[in-house]
Amino acid sequence: MTTIRPRRLRTTPAMRGLVRETRVARAQLVLPVFVADGLTKPRPISSLPGVVQHTLDSLRAEAARAASAGLGGIMLFGVPQPQEKDAAGSVGERADGILNRGLAAVRAEVGDDLVVMADTCLDEFTDHGHCGLLTPDGGVDNDATLDVYARLAVSQAEAGAHVVAPSGMMDGQVLAIREGLDAAGHEDVSILAYAAKYASAFYGPFREAVGSSLAGDRRTYQQDPANRREGLREALLDLAEGADMVMVKPAASYLDVLADVAAASDVPVAAYQVSGEYAMICAAAERGWIDRDAALAEAITCIVRAGADLVLTYAALEVPAVR
Ligand code: PBG
Repeated sequence: MTTIRPRRLRTTPAMRGLVRETRVARAQLVLPVFVADGLTKPRPISSLPGVVQHTLDSLRAEAARAASAGLGGIMLFGVPQPQEKDAAGSVGERADGILNRGLAAVRAEVGDDLVVMADTCLDEFTDHGHCGLLTPDGGVDNDATLDVYARLAVSQAEAGAHVVAPSGMMDGQVLAIREGLDAAGHEDVSILAYAAKYASAFYGPFREAVGSSLAGDRRTYQQDPANRREGLREALLDLAEGADMVMVKPAASYLDVLADVAAASDVPVAAYQVSGEYAMICAAAERGWIDRDAALAEAITCIVRAGADLVLTYAALEVPAVR
């Protein structure tokens, strides 16, 4: 009897390289960045080692680095001055609001060399920290929020975004934004829909990164982590509304949802390795418990293996570590 030996294909680095099923390319990685108003120099985010709130100048430099490293894209989040926040998040759509100024600065720097993406959401800009407008009783008003998202997306397109990325999980947001963009003549601006976005504890460090004002939680609009079928349902709805790309978020703990969406989607699928996923690896590495570069490379490779065509990751510029 001859033993069947899968180990033959693992004998040397060259053999393993030859038969590797998944390879991660820089062109499929997107770097999330934060730009804050009123800073004189970049401010480190303590819970996200190596990540900072940028000034407009340091943001431009970071975008230039991302472009010359061959990354696929950059995703901008804006951090306004606390006193600029209001119940409607109105600073978000202002041309002189920090996110739109950041988008314009990045576009001026990189042109079309990098796909420039904008977070299309209100939570960074509202004084209550929710992703939408509130009803008198304190709930999040789905339909009233849609009009604001459409205006916000148009303002981002006008500032220079190639892609708008609605992350607020309002029902109907993709269609509302598509109609708003088209009516304003921005037919070429794409929508990357945060389609299956879960109410996750892994967003913790992000809340520090954007100076979030949120007191409660987002469980009436973000999904219950227990629900797999619902993730696919959300993605299919966004596809029907015209999403150009759909995203699953977070990534590592949701690879089943990602695989489901990848199998059903006829457009590119993104996954977001969120702040807590990145921070946990950094924190364990700081204690010497884990090899940072190897763990990041493995995590990103496995996200692609599960079906992501593009990956948002705070480690995007460290991609030499990705094999
Ligand atoms: C909402 C938004 C969040 C993240 C991206 N967009 C925060 C939230 O939903 O609470 C989280 C990203 C991360 O944790 O890295 N605009």
